[in-house]
Amino acid sequence: MTEAPDAGVIDVERVVCRLSELERGARGFTLGCGEWPLRMFVVRAGDAVHGYLNRCPHAGHRLDLLPERFLTADGTLILCSSHGALFERTTGYCVAGPCAGRSLTPVALQVRCGLVMLADGVELEALAAAAS
Ligand code: FES
Repeated sequence: MTEAPDAGVIDVERVVCRLSELERGARGFTLGCGEWPLRMFVVRAGDAVHGYLNRCPHAGHRLDLLPERFLTADGTLILCSSHGALFERTTGYCVAGPCAGRSLTPVALQVRCGLVMLADGVELEALAAAAS
């Protein structure tokens, strides 16, 4: 998702991070609190960002068993550290590994005023419950 033309009012509870915090290409975040916080990660591609639940479709493990390692060494693909599944950065589609042909669960994002936010209409609680 690219920068929204009309920044509008910023709902701080929906802010994931600053776009500038994604210089390394990907980073994990936890949104919300209580029993079902939303564990997700964000991948940057230029000024665009792509969000996914931090849950592998193979065995449900978090992808970054190696802390904050979401990408292959060359940065071209998303890596699940558990069993080596590889996913496209922009679609979350698994191109190799034990869950080939399946996809990460996307989290719709938008960028406003340099802030990466959950897109309008994304229900944080429903996503978190689905991911648990
Ligand atoms: S849990 Fe991700 S490849 Fe097995």
